[in-house]
Amino acid sequence: MKKTVVRVVCAIGQAGQLGLKGGLPWEGNRSPEFVADVARFFDLTRGHVLLAGPKTIASVPDFARADRDLVVVRSSMDPEDTLQRFVGRVVFIGGGPPVWDAYARFVSHWDIT
Ligand SMILES: NC(=O)c1ccc[n+]([C@@H]2O[C@H](COP(=O)([O-])OP(=O)(O)OC[C@H]3O[C@@H](n4cnc5c(N)ncnc54)[C@H](OP(=O)(O)O)[C@@H]3O)[C@@H](O)[C@H]2O)c1
Repeated sequence: MKKTVVRVVCAIGQAGQLGLKGGLPWEGNRSPEFVADVARFFDLTRGHVLLAGPKTIASVPDFARADRDLVVVRSSMDPEDTLQRFVGRVVFIGGGPPVWDAYARFVSHWDIT
């Protein structure tokens, strides 16, 4: 039977940070490892569903909007019902932290950098 595959690709700072003032704590860092980490995120999620809170979806750059399905989730939406809409697809839970909390129980693979 087909199911929804639910995954997370998440970057965590060395002090445990996930975000800072609405951006990534290392936002704008052009060092190769940071550039490669962001590129890897967009490579892995290409062609799949990226499901995230409104601020995170708003921050997806234009180049990445055409080749993946972006889905804004709100706290009024039931996570299980929402995932049911994507049976047979791979769904990446994109954050922010409250969204990871709500969807964590469905995640089969956490990819943490
Ligand atoms: N480190 C990383 O890999 C990474 C990845 C993504 C984002 N971030 C960082 O995270 C920050 C943005 O995230 P954010 O959390 O502030 O805003 P967000 O992306 O808008 O996500 C949080 C919002 O999602 C909505 N939501 C949807 N389903 C929910 C549920 N079941 N339970 C609770 N809330 C739910 C809520 O808004 P409503 O109540 O209005 O519906 C909540 O305020 C930025 O700093 C960004 O850089 C980091």
